Amino acid sequence: MCGIVAYNGKQNAIPLIISGLERLEYRGYDSAGIAWHNTKNLEFIKKSGKVKVLKSHISTDLNAQLAIGHTRWATHGKPSDENAHPHFSIDNNLAIIHNGIIENYAAIKEGLQNRGYKFKSQTDTEVLINLIQDVKKNEKTNLFQSVQLALSQIIGAYAIAVIDTNSPNSLVVAKKGSPLLIGVGDEEYFVASDAAPFIQHTKNVIYLNDGEIAEIGLKHLEIRTISNELKTPYIQKLNIELDQIEKGDYETFMLKEIYEQPNAILETLRGRISPDFNFVKLRGVNENIEFFQNTNKITIVACGTSWHAGLVGEYLIEGIAKVPVEVEYASEFLYRNPLVSKNDIVIAISQSGETADTLSAISLAKKRGAFVYGICNVVGSSIARATTVGTYMHAGPEIGVASTKSFTSQVTTLVLMALSIGKLKKSISDDEFQIISKELFSISKKIQSSLDSINKQTQKLAKLYKNAKNFLYLGRGISFPVALEGALKLKEISYIHAEGYPAAEMKHGPIALIDKNMPTVIIATNKPNYEKVVANAEEIKARSGKLIAIVSQDDNNMNNIADHIIQVPETHDFLTPLITAIPLQLLSYHIAKIRGCDVDQPRNLAKSVTVE
Ligand code: G6P
Repeated sequence: MCGIVAYNGKQNAIPLIISGLERLEYRGYDSAGIAWHNTKNLEFIKKSGKVKVLKSHISTDLNAQLAIGHTRWATHGKPSDENAHPHFSIDNNLAIIHNGIIENYAAIKEGLQNRGYKFKSQTDTEVLINLIQDVKKNEKTNLFQSVQLALSQIIGAYAIAVIDTNSPNSLVVAKKGSPLLIGVGDEEYFVASDAAPFIQHTKNVIYLNDGEIAEIGLKHLEIRTISNELKTPYIQKLNIELDQIEKGDYETFMLKEIYEQPNAILETLRGRISPDFNFVKLRGVNENIEFFQNTNKITIVACGTSWHAGLVGEYLIEGIAKVPVEVEYASEFLYRNPLVSKNDIVIAISQSGETADTLSAISLAKKRGAFVYGICNVVGSSIARATTVGTYMHAGPEIGVASTKSFTSQVTTLVLMALSIGKLKKSISDDEFQIISKELFSISKKIQSSLDSINKQTQKLAKLYKNAKNFLYLGRGISFPVALEGALKLKEISYIHAEGYPAAEMKHGPIALIDKNMPTVIIATNKPNYEKVVANAEEIKARSGKLIAIVSQDDNNMNNIADHIIQVPETHDFLTPLITAIPLQLLSYHIAKIRGCDVDQPRNLAKSVTVE
């Protein structure tokens, strides 16, 4: 949540900051602002609304060597011009942008107010910049030292960049909990919450670590810890191309990412299944097999769509590897004193690798001595670094706020994990292993060949159901988490209330909602539960509900029951979520589009949730 960007170098910083903010907008989009050095003072523009509102107030002749910018997702104080970042010290000499939350801001604010400080906004960030000013004034320290001393009093999470009228050629940045990357160019430095704002300028990046502060001049960079230990900058090469973060010919990022799924799955699989389909190469599992062999149980922690992928993982790991699995919302895991100890494995799943609840769950699991394994998409992200052992999904950047290709890529990773553990534990026969791994390898083609037709069918359905007030999604077994994911997608981007339910549970409550206006989407592709799901479909029709059935190719059984049938390619039961998720993603996509919703940036949401 919230994106920060800064630049110091030979190019004009103003347009770089604005285009950087546009690339970070998925992190929050309720207000945005920019500050830069003028000859003697700091100038700024900040506006409530999306980055395009800010952009419309920036004149093209503005020029600066150094500037900072911010796009916000409100935590303290509603979206407004005053609460937008950058925030300024009371003497207007210092400006700050901040992603994170200062937990002890109220006590610090009170102390500052008692010393005569006045505040223009309701934000915790304005408190921090005034604390830095207070330290600077009282201790007669330079900007770097003042930031260092002020941060030693802070409890909470932050990625900040601070500029000072008295140091026109440098800025100070610091990180704890929230991400901060420094792009190293030729006599220029970029700072951002992720690499998107600067990859067209440089692929050289430094990931600042928690507790580190950097001073970034025109030609120098110095990194120290809060306790003043000097650090050697470690420059890494980014492996992202510009077209991966652009929409190309697609009308939205979400549609692009839905269509990227066949390729994202292939990328997740690349080099991980042996050519004879007898072995899965997952270093994190293979090198730690004793943990997987001896564990009491695996607990999966995640949030949102990643949690749904985790639920699919439960069916996969229990079904294939025969290890007991529990799946927890990371936030709930944290606050219920979970029974996790040194014989347990905790798998944290996160696309962004920055979700605060998941990060905190990892730190609790580590404290209890569990073996913690990460499944992340963003390379170098906080969760990837906090887990030390894990698997990258390699799905490529996902920019649409609603997760699509991440879900299928996470499920693919979990199939690989289940196969790998199952093989090493001999809980799956060699024949079954080969059948599943071959099918997994060919699933991308199956998805590719069905995408256009499913796209057209869901577009037609969207026209019919765009005005529904509620939707029900049903599935059994491994399709139940897919039903949850379908309902989440619809809620997130079209603002229609939707619930996912295990098909059999419908009769214990949701059936009371069924009438001629209530559409139900039922997933009926899994063989073990097929007859029972058909029976559930009959129950809905008997109550005049509208029924959309997702069935396997050439399955015509439901033709006389359901109002609409979407046929999807047939696959192994364990792999059906990879296929059935797609019509549900496209259905919510088209409904949201017809309703005029901003599918890439739905209201109130953000892609990277860095607050608990
Ligand atoms: C937010 C996003 C969701 C995502 C969830 C977990 O709510 O809007 O799309 O599923 O965070 O994010 P993660 O990056 O941890 O997978």
